Amino acid sequence: MVSVNIQDVLKRLGIEELNNGVSTGQEWFDTKGDITSSVSPIDGKEIAKVKNATMEDYEMVMEKAQAAFKVWREVPAPERGEIVRKIGEALREYKEDLGALVTYEMGKIFQEGLGEVQEMIDICDFAVGQSRLINGVNLQSERPQHRLSEQYHPLGICGIVTSYNFPVAVWAWNSALAAIAGDVVVWKPSSKTPITAIATQKIIRKVLADNNMPEGVFNLIIAKSSVMGDNFLSDKRIPLMSVTGSTAVGKRVGGIVGKRLGKTILELGGNNAVIITPSADIQMAVMSTVFGTVGTAGQRCTSTRRVIIHESVYEEVKEKFLSAYEGIQHKIGNALDQDYLVGPLIDANSVMLFQHAVKKVEEEGGKVLFGGQVKEGAGFESGNYVVPCIAEAQNHFEIVQEETFAPIVYFIKYSGDIMNAIEIQNDVPQGLSSACFTLDMREAETFLSYAGSDCGIANVNLGTSGAEIGGAFGGEKDTGGGRESGSDAWKIYMRRQTNTVNYGTELPLAQGIKFDI
Ligand code: UN1
Repeated sequence: MVSVNIQDVLKRLGIEELNNGVSTGQEWFDTKGDITSSVSPIDGKEIAKVKNATMEDYEMVMEKAQAAFKVWREVPAPERGEIVRKIGEALREYKEDLGALVTYEMGKIFQEGLGEVQEMIDICDFAVGQSRLINGVNLQSERPQHRLSEQYHPLGICGIVTSYNFPVAVWAWNSALAAIAGDVVVWKPSSKTPITAIATQKIIRKVLADNNMPEGVFNLIIAKSSVMGDNFLSDKRIPLMSVTGSTAVGKRVGGIVGKRLGKTILELGGNNAVIITPSADIQMAVMSTVFGTVGTAGQRCTSTRRVIIHESVYEEVKEKFLSAYEGIQHKIGNALDQDYLVGPLIDANSVMLFQHAVKKVEEEGGKVLFGGQVKEGAGFESGNYVVPCIAEAQNHFEIVQEETFAPIVYFIKYSGDIMNAIEIQNDVPQGLSSACFTLDMREAETFLSYAGSDCGIANVNLGTSGAEIGGAFGGEKDTGGGRESGSDAWKIYMRRQTNTVNYGTELPLAQGIKFDI
């Protein structure tokens, strides 16, 4: 049963049939760009239309952002935190509606849509606290009557490019921290999910108006890449560019931004593995891993792509997985209906990539154990629903080395000790998330040690996906190396400065150099 009336949701969120795609906070602009429409992967119906930005709109926003930065950086950080606190409050008020829209436009199940908005609320809370904790360090000078210290200053404009799979949470990770840091943001959302972006910008609008915020601190631009592509990336007015997307996109971004020596946060592809050792609590391992393989229909960058299982427990794990998938097979459907656990893929291209992976793993010598079909018939008319697939494979297969952004997981057998499993796990280009199920302390600690997982995230007895916002989020190798969200990720949104102050009457040089004039 679908209990959500999406038309009512759209109305409450202020979404119209045709929406302006450019905003500098409270103001929205009637742009002259192409009109595009957003379609729900759930039922293939048009959600709403958007007027895209032109080059002139982009320039106008950038000028406002530049001017706003000069004002915003003057505001004390705890006061900036207060604005973010109110944004968190507004998101609490609209959690159900925005969560439902995330579900309708992106296709993740409603529980996960709500979870995504909760993630936005959580990072706002985190950022509020951080706004009073932006700290530097005092160090010991080698010179008498000198004080050596470090401080952090606001950086400027932060460009944010988000992906369809977390259409609003990743904006929140970046903009909540950027805002308390004294930066202003220019957000380019995925062209597949513009309506959730517009809804989010409308939710924060009241907060900005009530608090007399200058225009240009929170900017949104919906534009095609012909208008906001390489020119955006190479724009020297943007010291920091935070991009979530595929490794291919990230390499391009890194090249263009790197060429002008800009800073980047790159959150790119993962090829996340779960290791199940002989000592694991198998029931727990399977239950947890299934959320990682089929949750969000395999469209999280943290989704579990490989399960590396010890030969002694392989058959047991396989049986339990197959029986879980049997059940899940009947829980594929309209993501707004809370009876279902697996919604649609985002579009026909994703379905095609899923089918390609199923075919390719067999061509390379693997064996499909479950699923791989595209659902047909009543309720599946959008053509975006697939049956999650399990395939036995070898780690070196080309298709296993790649990230397929869909619910296909590869089972890989290992023998001997944990180091063999770790070696397989690390033997892929990507390095985002990883997990190990074991009740053996030596295995667990080895997995977490310098010789263990080479990923940015390494978990013991829980899966690869669904990280909390409190830790730094990101990965190594082809995942791009960026860190956002919690811990000290705020530092990248600021510029660091080392200060030496001489409060004495002498002029001693460092390193004891004598220079008598
Ligand atoms: C993403 O898929 O881009 O850890 C982000 C997770 C979520 C965030 C995923 N908290 O799965």
